[in-house]
Amino acid sequence: MHVHRSERLWIFFGVAMLAVFLGMITTAAVVDGLVPPSRVQTIDPTKVSQTPPFDHPGLHKIADNVYEAYYVAHIFSFTPASIEIPAGARVTFYVTSADVEHGFSIPETGVNTMVTPGWVSSVSHTFTTPGTFLLICNEYCGSGHQLMAAKVVVK
Ligand code: CUA
Repeated sequence: MHVHRSERLWIFFGVAMLAVFLGMITTAAVVDGLVPPSRVQTIDPTKVSQTPPFDHPGLHKIADNVYEAYYVAHIFSFTPASIEIPAGARVTFYVTSADVEHGFSIPETGVNTMVTPGWVSSVSHTFTTPGTFLLICNEYCGSGHQLMAAKVVVK
């Protein structure tokens, strides 16, 4: 089979770029211990229900209009199932999984993170408009995945 010289050059270029990128990712992961930015804390996934503050998941008021919400994702629901906050509240969500990989997404707010067992994911959002927001799992996690939802009520 005859491969044109410039085509061979492009194939070489493509493979070389792939090798460079793989090398960069591997170096970052191994040397720098790189993890996605929202996952900075670790937790023993088998002891989530005994580990504070995830032993009592829920909403905590930190200051006026500043809240922290601790969530445990498990097949096939979120705890807490519902929280209520005033309009204008800034909420930092801390989420961990008690079993498998889940998603944590509130459509139209930009709140969207993966929830990996062993890690605490964190994401913040200011809820300016009143309404009921659906919080959904957007990572396939098993036969009841489509039922996995909770709500955030902004008054
Ligand atoms: Cu949890 Cu899908």
